[in-house]
Amino acid sequence: MKSFENQVAVVTGGASGIGRGIALALAGRGAHVALADLHEARLAETVAAIEALGGKALGLRCDVTSDAEVEGFRDATLARFGRVDLLCNNAGVSVLGPCERVEMADWQWILDVNVLGLVRGVRAFVPAMVERGAGHVVNTASVAGIWAYSWDAGPYITSKFAAYGYSEVLARSLRPHGVGVSVLCPGLVSTNLGETARFSGVPAERRAEWLYFPEEMRDAIAPEAVGEIVAEAVLKKQFAIFTHAHDAERFRTWRLDIERSLDDVIAASPKPPRLDRPPVG
Ligand SMILES: NC(=O)c1ccc[n+]([C@@H]2O[C@H](COP(=O)([O-])OP(=O)(O)OC[C@H]3O[C@@H](n4cnc5c(N)ncnc54)[C@H](O)[C@@H]3O)[C@@H](O)[C@H]2O)c1
Repeated sequence: MKSFENQVAVVTGGASGIGRGIALALAGRGAHVALADLHEARLAETVAAIEALGGKALGLRCDVTSDAEVEGFRDATLARFGRVDLLCNNAGVSVLGPCERVEMADWQWILDVNVLGLVRGVRAFVPAMVERGAGHVVNTASVAGIWAYSWDAGPYITSKFAAYGYSEVLARSLRPHGVGVSVLCPGLVSTNLGETARFSGVPAERRAEWLYFPEEMRDAIAPEAVGEIVAEAVLKKQFAIFTHAHDAERFRTWRLDIERSLDDVIAASPKPPRLDRPPVG
């Protein structure tokens, strides 16, 4: 993809936060955008904002946990715009609570939205990209997809590690078909994610302790800034997209645990390991 002019983009969770930021950045660069979300009032507001930029937009209530609704969203997008060039699988939710107490229904909910939501988007939109030999997918993971940053967000981190791994597999398998993949790993962004977050296994009187600390929120950036970063990264065909330099530093420190264990296993190996898999990006 060399430019977004007259390209057709799909953004799930596009009514709010990062999805809205991506949609506006793409529309500002000439793309037509189809938005899927559960929040109908914010959908209508985002469609109006895109139209105010001179773009064409479609907003549809669509639950990414429903195969039928995602397929219906695909059909409505094709009926309106004829094809899809860019799929942004972005809808996501959060569950906070101690891993050993989080309810099974909450584990199932977060994995259904944050992991299987990506799978449903890919199954609905990517076969046509493969047939055309062109297209791009952006999966929103998080910096929590590479770094277990908090012991309070086990279900969220688990879902985002899965999103990162799925994206890497997808990138390697779609590359020979001319379809690009990026995985978006933002740090803290000022969005409405807290509105849909579930506390699970946390007593009501202790919930305040499980919210983001105010000093962490000072690092939060605007979703519009993330949208700009994503648009530029897609044009560069970048695989992993990060937004915060200090997350990169924290990740390097955290990775040392893995590197030490790798050094141990290499030192104990009778034969030097063969490196046959180049980096994905
Ligand atoms: N806010 C952050 O700091 C941050 C950091 C890293 C990654 N992320 C990820 O960014 C993505 C977007 O989140 P956000 O922070 O912009 O939050 P947000 O709540 O502002 O936006 C998410 C949107 O997804 C929609 N959504 C939720 N469940 C859905 C479903 N089942 N079907 C369709 N739409 C659904 C919500 O209605 C909402 O409009 C998520 O995947 C989130 O995990 C957020």
